[in-house]
Amino acid sequence: MKRYDIAAIGELNVDVILNQIDGFPEMGKEKFAGQMLLTLGSSTAIFAANASSLGPKVCFVGMIGKDSFGSLVKESLEAKGVATDYLIESPSAATGATIVMSYDEDRANLTYQGAMDIMGFDDIDQSVFENTKHIHLSSLFMQSALLRDIDKVLDAATRNGVTVSLDTQWDPAEKWALDYKSVLPKITIFLPNEKELQALTATSSLEEAIEAVLPYLGCAMVVKMGSKGSLLVRKDGSRNMLPSFLNRNVVDAIGAGDSFNSGFVSAFVKGLPLEKCQEIGNMTGALNTTAAGGTGAFTSPEEINQRAIKLFGRTLDL
Ligand SMILES: Nc1ncnc2c1ncn2[C@@H]1O[C@H](COP(=O)(O)OP(=O)(O)OP(=O)(O)O)[C@@H](O)[C@H]1O
Ligand SMILES: [Mg+2]
Repeated sequence: MKRYDIAAIGELNVDVILNQIDGFPEMGKEKFAGQMLLTLGSSTAIFAANASSLGPKVCFVGMIGKDSFGSLVKESLEAKGVATDYLIESPSAATGATIVMSYDEDRANLTYQGAMDIMGFDDIDQSVFENTKHIHLSSLFMQSALLRDIDKVLDAATRNGVTVSLDTQWDPAEKWALDYKSVLPKITIFLPNEKELQALTATSSLEEAIEAVLPYLGCAMVVKMGSKGSLLVRKDGSRNMLPSFLNRNVVDAIGAGDSFNSGFVSAFVKGLPLEKCQEIGNMTGALNTTAAGGTGAFTSPEEINQRAIKLFGRTLDL
């Protein structure tokens, strides 16, 4: 028996969300926002919080600063049942923060990476590789030290028989400096979205992108395709396209991809077949769109199942 089902390795930051802003920022001028929300940000944190709400035992491996934003991050993870014993406090760097300026449907983000950018392999308490069944890695391009050390992390997972899922997320610098031919064979489940897969492989269609990665897949890939659903591609080339569970009353799709990942990986660590993991991923992706933000729809297992019955006529079966 391992202490954790899932160790989420990724970025941590707070979001300072400004709503009802009276125009766009201008040099030398002052604008006002009508509302502000200070909350736990980061896509890996949404993944970890939601996976924890679905049942698995989840811990987080990430770096924060010794500051009040760091305390907010730690307390918010703990409130979601995510273990924080593997969090690292940098003695010098500040906790990352994203200023989110919301304008109607769109958001302009400005991120200070801080501590998240300096966590490398040597900073990680190596016992995590013995204490977890599975590692979920996310947002690689927001974390330059982790990106640099990716092979070391994956080799440690392999040595300890730990399965790995990876969602690189978008590369803000659009350099896509990840050698997928050497990295993907060490990833059990690769979880890109359509746009990211094409950018990573420098291809211009989904078909070309699938062909590019297929020879290198560890076990399988799931391509997330927004309201179209998801496409499971196994190492042997077999596929399963699964349309999304349509939610006619979408509140917002913030974090839908992370919620998909949390459902898929929670089912995977229970040993469910890949098609079932995909189905649960589509369900948790759709559930995400029924409430504001990335974690609003994922409170307790009971409430999640109530929402699922309302939306799909059945529970998640996790
Ligand atoms: N409008 C929607 N209705 C129902 N299901 C949805 C909707 N949008 C997304 N989903 C589900 O959530 C999954 C993941 O969403 P999406 O493809 O947007 O991921 P992503 O691009 O990685 O998102 P993110 O911006 O959160 O990283 C989809 O595969 C789908 O199953
Ligand atoms: Mg995503």
